Amino acid sequence: MSRNSTPDVQFDADGQLRHLLTIDGLNAETIIDILDTAESFISIGQRRIRKVPLLHGRTVVNLFFEPSTRTRTTFEIAAKRLSADVINLNASRMSTSKGESVLDTVRTLEAMHTDMFVVRDGSSGTAHLIARHVPAHVHIINAGDGRHAHPTQAMLDMFTIRQHKGAFDQLRFAIVGDILHSRVARSQIHALNILGAREVRVIGPQTLLPTEIERLGVTAFTNMDDGLSDIDVIMMLRLQLERMEGQLIPSSQEYFRLYGLTSERVARAAPDAVVMHPGPMNRGLEITSSVADGERSLILPQVTNGIAVRMSIMAKLMGSQPQTLEPEP
Ligand code: CP
Repeated sequence: MSRNSTPDVQFDADGQLRHLLTIDGLNAETIIDILDTAESFISIGQRRIRKVPLLHGRTVVNLFFEPSTRTRTTFEIAAKRLSADVINLNASRMSTSKGESVLDTVRTLEAMHTDMFVVRDGSSGTAHLIARHVPAHVHIINAGDGRHAHPTQAMLDMFTIRQHKGAFDQLRFAIVGDILHSRVARSQIHALNILGAREVRVIGPQTLLPTEIERLGVTAFTNMDDGLSDIDVIMMLRLQLERMEGQLIPSSQEYFRLYGLTSERVARAAPDAVVMHPGPMNRGLEITSSVADGERSLILPQVTNGIAVRMSIMAKLMGSQPQTLEPEP
């Protein structure tokens, strides 16, 4: 986990954001610009006709080599609200399952005049690889690559935090669970530090905390009750059993006993603390239903905000800003 793993691929020669591959390397101004633009897209979701012509005539391909519910669907809705043409592809129906390379699949789709690829893959670096091989007019968004990065999830999380809690420099954050395998945690840590969070903690069993995680600017805790003390925003993670090699947790029951988020544990945090989870969540393992469905939970607002934030990112990369929006007739 280097602090600046992709210094230039994301930007064009003029320093404009061309792809969104990772939060690492962005500055606060860029992130805030994306969040501010997303604010203006929230209202489009509340209109009778939820569509604007910003990406009319553009083609977006959702290229998902790994399962997804939230990310794929909200990208599709976001692109359609911007009036783009959207094609959804998933691994089981793609020629990669017949031995074609990812780059040959991308070149084939590019030949059909695709303007943007939204890419999810189980291997770290796939979106970067594609970004290095596409022509200048094609844009790549990383929709999650291996354990590396999930930048649009972190952006929608930052949007939701700002919407509900305000200034980052006043807030203490705890990211809880399987930090080791989590692309979401890495992107959240980068985003929170870039935005000037007062404190960022990670909480989990030693086996699920990367070595030298403190180098990313966080404090590590293995005791959840200690780690939650005074926390304003509790950010839960999914236990990524499919990425685990060997027995990294003693048992599901023991994991829940030590790291499951219960109402009693929420009470250890600040009195007005909020709870987030990127989903998909495992009730009774990572979080109880009373917390997930409780009044402190921002889990469904995260999903809803994902549409406006992804609209903002797509519009920014393609150079179409909402100043050109027509008011609703
Ligand atoms: N948070 C997230 O990436 O969820 P999906 O796997 O459903 O897209």
